[in-house]
Amino acid sequence: MDNCIVVTGGAGFIGSNFVNAWLQQGLGKVINLDKLTYAGNLENLSEVQNDKNHLFVKADIGDREVVARLLKQYQPRAIINFAAESHVDRSIHAPDAFIQTNIVGTFHLLEEVRAYWSALTDAAKEDFRFLHISTDEVYGSLSASAPAFKETHPYEPNSPYSASKAASDHLVRAYHHTYGMPMLTTNCSNNYGPYHFPEKLIPLVIHHALEGKPLPIYGDGSNVRDWLYVGDHCSAIRRVLEAGKIGETYNIGGWNEMSNLDVVYTLCDRLDALRPKSKGSYRDQITYVTDRPGHDRRYAIDASKIERELGWKPAETFETGIQKTVAWYLDHQTWVDHVTSGEYQQWVGENYQAREKA
Ligand code: NAD
Ligand code: TYD
Repeated sequence: MDNCIVVTGGAGFIGSNFVNAWLQQGLGKVINLDKLTYAGNLENLSEVQNDKNHLFVKADIGDREVVARLLKQYQPRAIINFAAESHVDRSIHAPDAFIQTNIVGTFHLLEEVRAYWSALTDAAKEDFRFLHISTDEVYGSLSASAPAFKETHPYEPNSPYSASKAASDHLVRAYHHTYGMPMLTTNCSNNYGPYHFPEKLIPLVIHHALEGKPLPIYGDGSNVRDWLYVGDHCSAIRRVLEAGKIGETYNIGGWNEMSNLDVVYTLCDRLDALRPKSKGSYRDQITYVTDRPGHDRRYAIDASKIERELGWKPAETFETGIQKTVAWYLDHQTWVDHVTSGEYQQWVGENYQAREKA
């Protein structure tokens, strides 16, 4: 086996951050398999476009022929599965793609990886890892006073997105228990940072603020999320890949629980400091809109297992991470302009036109 890994979904937000850091640290060859849906963008990989250790392949994780050929040809020592449909609001409007990629696609990928792994030598079998990237949303919603999600929390997914991710987690678990495959699963909280597609709260608010558009808050803005800087998430994944115990799940979080309103206030305040408006504050653009159906109240991650067992904890606080993020968006307006044309406009129309001002 070569020192080569396969990353799926490596042109998306977290996957591209992971691939960029992996190659910049000289950790070995990466085969990057991505379908390039609306969320996949080769510009996210421009930092590594001339790196000979990066091979990009445009393909679906469910395309068994392509997956089988790549595994045979490159003999990877690990697969890291980021590929997914990832946006809750889109899963409410059109769940089909979520079922196809997150469940059926993951199943096909697992089948080809099983065939590849089964044919390896005993030593190579032992070294191999399949790391599945999942979400805290599979655990459902917490009340204000409930303890944060531990890895043992029951699965109670509430959206088509989280239900499809839960199904894929169960498949990964089953392939370990049934076939003895060396699986690892990570469940993380809301990521933020560079290359985040501006349909998600943080990049959307930065983009809309600068464009002078309304900053849409679903409901009363009191829903709570835990926020994890994407660079910290990537370092946690590298640690789990290196030292995680086979068959285990690790929760990854930033220890930054915040209400949506507080997140938006923080963003407005940073922008007021870095790019002041001629009159007033960006906070003046905040607009309350009709809530998301079935909107989960609160997610909170207890990341003490990964700290205790693998010695990982996040390096960034919300304050330092958001400072870097806002600065990155201000410096990368061309990237934002490119991803907010075309299909993006159509989505914003669909999602926000239907939400009257609350
Ligand atoms: P993203 O939507 O930005 O990127 C997903 C990538 O997968 C895109 O490049 C897309 O082209 C690709 N893709 C989609 N369907 C595919 C298919 N059938 N075959 C091959 N490639 C396909 O998502 P993200 O935010 O980078 O999330 C990555 C992973 O992390 C997902 O599995 C997601 O569920 C999980 N996750 C994300 C967050 C978050 O805050 N963003 C939080 C928890 C978990
Ligand atoms: P999002 O970034 O879509 O992530 P998730 O739903 O997976 O947590 O949304 C984060 C929170 O922000 C969530 O509670 C929904 C809320 N939200 C808004 O209030 N307004 C918006 O325009 C968006 C996109 C999200």
